[in-house]
Amino acid sequence: MEIATVKLTDTLNLNKLTEKGHYTKAFLQGKSIPGENLDELLNFIHSVGTSVNIQATRYFVIESSEMKAAIADGMIRSGATMNEHKVRNASHVIVCATMTSVPDEYLNKIHRKEEMDGRFATPELKQTWVNVVRGWIDMHRYDVKDLNHWMEKQTYLVLGAAMVAAESLGINVSPLEGFDSKAVDALLGLREKGLTATVLLSLGYRDEAKDFAFKLPKSRLPKEEIFKFY
Ligand SMILES: Cc1cc2nc3c(=O)[nH]c(=O)nc-3n(C[C@H](O)[C@H](O)[C@H](O)COP(=O)(O)O)c2cc1C
Repeated sequence: MEIATVKLTDTLNLNKLTEKGHYTKAFLQGKSIPGENLDELLNFIHSVGTSVNIQATRYFVIESSEMKAAIADGMIRSGATMNEHKVRNASHVIVCATMTSVPDEYLNKIHRKEEMDGRFATPELKQTWVNVVRGWIDMHRYDVKDLNHWMEKQTYLVLGAAMVAAESLGINVSPLEGFDSKAVDALLGLREKGLTATVLLSLGYRDEAKDFAFKLPKSRLPKEEIFKFY
């Protein structure tokens, strides 16, 4: 069993990532992410800001083979067979779970924490912020009626940042939408916790011999079609 003990790269080479970066289709079985790298990544994920500081995502870090196998087996049962080895052979799989509602007491908790952390210079500023946040949440809840969708956008925002951060630590990533969210919800008791699984992030080290996408060229629509300058 090969264990990674060193950081593969200290700084992210964005040009290299642009040219060669692919999401990983096959992980090296048994190669684990060193604890310090995992801590660094989780600290970063913890730090990523979301709209009105809602912090609507909880991260379940799966490291045991049994739990990985349970998620992988659920993939096979639900027809997402192509993904099962991306979970089974990963070093870690992060289940990104999003809150299913925003109770008042949850917002109170966030605002109390912001106050304790010294975010408000005056009580008036705190009240203004509380009003802005409540108004924003209620707009999504009652007017646009997309509160869950909006919270999942926040989850995806952190997912994107986490993927780049992981690559900067030399950790390869595979974001996975193809999984049985009902089974993962049940496995981790997420619904009872007011959560539901949104997306998985498998982490580990690419098995270059088995990763069919690794040597393929990028395929993107022309830049002129994607970017407009005014
Ligand atoms: C949010 C998200 C979910 C994805 N889910 C899966 C998945 O379930 N299985 C899979 O093999 N690839 C998945 N992918 C990978 C995409 O299919 C892949 O990024 C796309 O084909 C482009 O690949 P490339 O960057 O290697 O060119 C996902 C990518 C993203 C961003």
